[in-house]
Amino acid sequence: MEKPLPSPVSGDVEYLTGMTLGAYLDLVRERFPELHRDLRFDRAGAARALEQLTRLFNEFETDDPESGRGDSYRRAQQHTAVRLTGIRRLFELAGGVRELRRLPASWRVLDLLAGDGLLARALLTLAPQVRSGVISSDVARHMVSSALAAELPALRQDARYLFLRDACVDAVVLAYGSHHVPPGDRRAVYLEAARVLRPGGRLVVHDFEEGAPSARWFSEVVHRNSAAGHAYSHFTEADLRRDLIAAGLGNHQVLRMYDPFVMRADTREKAVGQLADYVHDMYGLTALGRGGADREKVRAQVWELCEDCFRFGPDEGPSDGGSVEWRRSPAVYRSRDENAWIAEIPRIALVAVAVAAA
Ligand SMILES: C[S@@+](CC[C@H](N)C(=O)[O-])C[C@H]1O[C@@H](n2cnc3c(N)ncnc32)[C@H](O)[C@@H]1O
Repeated sequence: MEKPLPSPVSGDVEYLTGMTLGAYLDLVRERFPELHRDLRFDRAGAARALEQLTRLFNEFETDDPESGRGDSYRRAQQHTAVRLTGIRRLFELAGGVRELRRLPASWRVLDLLAGDGLLARALLTLAPQVRSGVISSDVARHMVSSALAAELPALRQDARYLFLRDACVDAVVLAYGSHHVPPGDRRAVYLEAARVLRPGGRLVVHDFEEGAPSARWFSEVVHRNSAAGHAYSHFTEADLRRDLIAAGLGNHQVLRMYDPFVMRADTREKAVGQLADYVHDMYGLTALGRGGADREKVRAQVWELCEDCFRFGPDEGPSDGGSVEWRRSPAVYRSRDENAWIAEIPRIALVAVAVAAA
């Protein structure tokens, strides 16, 4: 089969670490033919986008001591269940279904900030009937390589310019990191999402609301304690709506969704300790361990920071479904139906669901 390459670019350009674009296309053609069919590296502007990718490195590549948290981020994501409450809801919203078992086997969703494929792995357990439903897309080389190594269909591209054909997916998800896209570029991401959505398909945008506890976590805790810092702007409902409308996605709703961190273990200490490790690794809070603090002390510090930050007033809860049980501050409790302890840190996310014109 022919390689869909842009005319000024040869397959020799390095696309992933140690892998040329030509080798990547061969691999995808062999292992993920459905994705290969939809790839368009010969779109107008693709050569420039590829050239920009060669110069792009972000904090999610490795644990570079100056500016990275990629390895520790991926270590945390081995706990696939911690964010399952929010991930399940995102898939329900993306699929327009109340229960994920209603998703058709052929359903396809593009995860634009996929990291190493957490959402794809989650969908395999939440809706096993959906065969290879999630295309994991990310700009970081190591994230894409990890997803491919886990046998997930994945590609390296910037959310602002997609190497995919028009109208090829049922849904697009921009979640768990949308603030990494600068405010002035978000509209371009929505335009690209609208282009690759089939008519009537859905775009779900998820982030945290500027000034709310879940966003202050980043500006007040992550920014001070991680090597890379965290100088990113979060979202406001007004800007989100304005940019969606400008991208032709005026048919949308905005809601606030419960999106906690949840860790289960057989003792109270393990549940809290493992959740503190998860948060420490995910956000690369390396400054907390400096000065020789031992592991238990770092865990206690992380938990205390979470207790200080993640506190919600009665009016700051989810607007998404009146029956959602949610906690207003971090808690550790014994589960009613399992013989397990649960450590839970509440977060409230701002979410928009837009429907592409039919
Ligand atoms: C916080 S991580 C989330 C990863 C995964 N979705 C998860 O929940 O674990 C954010 C991801 O967005 C990626 N990213 C940031 N800016 C991007 C952009 N402009 N285009 C594509 N990916 C981007 C990063 O490389 C990183 O892997």
